[in-house]
Amino acid sequence: MNILITGCAGFIGFHLSEFLSKKYKKSKIIGFDNINNFYSPILKKMRIKVLKKNKNFYFKKIDLQNKKKIENIFKRNKIKIVIHLAAQAGVRDSLKMPNSYFKSNFIGFMNIVSISNKNKVKKFIFASSSSVYGDKKKFPLKENMNISPKNIYSATKKINEDISNDLSKISNMKMIGLRFFTVYGKFGRPDMFIFKFLNSLLNNKKFHLYNKGKHFRDYTHIDDVVNIIISLIKKKITKKFQVFNICSNDPIDLNKLVKFISNFVNIKPKIIKKKRNSIEVLKTHGDNKKILGFLKIKLTRNIFFELPAIIEWYKKNQIWKLKN
Ligand SMILES: NC(=O)c1ccc[n+]([C@@H]2O[C@H](COP(=O)([O-])OP(=O)(O)OC[C@H]3O[C@@H](n4cnc5c(N)ncnc54)[C@H](O)[C@@H]3O)[C@@H](O)[C@H]2O)c1
Repeated sequence: MNILITGCAGFIGFHLSEFLSKKYKKSKIIGFDNINNFYSPILKKMRIKVLKKNKNFYFKKIDLQNKKKIENIFKRNKIKIVIHLAAQAGVRDSLKMPNSYFKSNFIGFMNIVSISNKNKVKKFIFASSSSVYGDKKKFPLKENMNISPKNIYSATKKINEDISNDLSKISNMKMIGLRFFTVYGKFGRPDMFIFKFLNSLLNNKKFHLYNKGKHFRDYTHIDDVVNIIISLIKKKITKKFQVFNICSNDPIDLNKLVKFISNFVNIKPKIIKKKRNSIEVLKTHGDNKKILGFLKIKLTRNIFFELPAIIEWYKKNQIWKLKN
């Protein structure tokens, strides 16, 4: 069974590719990524170096815009499953560089989904986001609620869900959208809160804290995310299209994280309080009953228990010294 993972040099794509390459030794695990410089390409190359140690892992440097190169991968390999994770991620930058979101998350999505369909892929699992819900008053967020994205990034994710829903009516592919809620872990994204804050502490830099840190995020451990995707790969799927929240059902107060991380490294943060950034939601808290019931699994990880090993990894590998 050949599996294609897009965005394999990214945080989630890396962990998934590593796990799949080790678990399915007889399968070909093919990953592509354009290694863009949204954050340090050095970190992305570090991840690819680890992945290349697996003999059954094949990396290609390809952009989602390049239909010809993507088609060639499909021509040369009988790909049954596509896990589409490549995207321009991040909420804050979507106003600064909207074109990048349009190119990767709209045109790029259309390219990969239509090529997968043409090549008779059986399962197409793709990354959506908790941000599609927008600012809601009622929690936990459930998959059947109305969604109202409040920035360009989340709008592109909603469009991905809509396109898949439409396409599923005329396609034999089983399509699954995963609404990820703030994923964290080793090799995590430097543009996200935990590593951005750690970076400021270890480099003795100021840290901009929005809305006095009065934000809640439903932090979800990368190993839980990978386990869920692996279980979905194995599971017999009958519905043509569905979306799932991928979350812990446990919103964490950012101010608690600020305290925990600075106490752990024993460095006093230099916090600059900024007013609320209106394109960000105040709280995410997802209901994960749908995915846990579907896969008959449980999640038990607690972020404050997991963080020490992650912080130690970050320090040991001197990630805070990486430049773009
Ligand atoms: N990490 C989270 O908490 C989170 C939350 C919600 C949704 N998501 C979604 O999950 C997916 C993976 O997220 P991540 O955290 O691993 O992000 P990431 O930025 O680490 O990984 C995305 C990868 O895609 C690649 N990429 C971007 N545009 C591309 C293009 N046009 N062609 C080829 N490659 C391209 C990037 O180089 C990067 O390596 C993304 O779709 C993201 O929007 C992530």
